Amino acid sequence: MLGFTVAIDGPAAAGKGTVGRAVAAHFGFAHLDTGLLYRAVGAKVLNGVTAEEAAETLKARDLESDQLRTSAVAEAASRAAAIPAVRSALVDFQRSFAMRAGGAVLDGRDIGTVICPDAQVKLFITATPEVRAARRFAELSRVDPTVTLEGVLADVQARDARDSSRAEAPLRPAEDAELMDTSTMDIEAAVARAIALVNARRGE
Ligand code: DC
Repeated sequence: MLGFTVAIDGPAAAGKGTVGRAVAAHFGFAHLDTGLLYRAVGAKVLNGVTAEEAAETLKARDLESDQLRTSAVAEAASRAAAIPAVRSALVDFQRSFAMRAGGAVLDGRDIGTVICPDAQVKLFITATPEVRAARRFAELSRVDPTVTLEGVLADVQARDARDSSRAEAPLRPAEDAELMDTSTMDIEAAVARAIALVNARRGE
């Protein structure tokens, strides 16, 4: 199956990664968490490299650092992601990944709108900021006992506002995306819905 692409967009901690991984595993598709590209750029910025240079020289091994999941890196990633030259440096890699034989799932903020506007399946997965902050808090507090729910909620809201209001490729659903709200739908139901949508398109 050449170039079957599933595009998953939405704000932080809405369940994109969980749904993306499950869909990829079910169909044997490759999965790319595009947030990791921006996080790797953000991590380099925190180490003193300019965001543009970091994006232009990004290597596969930069995506493997275990520092990429911290709130400081998420914040730096969101800032770097507003810079047009950073976004354009990362486009080719994402598009080649999307077109690989055997199918691909990409999750991020602009996959259905900018990176893969022709994706066969587009999902926009969201949840209230409170639900998303509670999920992120449960993950982060396991490794960092100093995090607070209020702090995580404030970070989530600041990042949503920046990612949605930037001029270049802002976070928004593609017109033809299927919307899923995981504050009212559990993750198993979201995965089942996503798998059904892929099956429907593959059968066409
Ligand atoms: O999905 P995440 O939380 O790992 O993403 C980190 C930041 O990267 C996010 O705040 C916005 C940015 N990002 C983006 O602008 N476009 C993408 N396709 C993926 C992430």
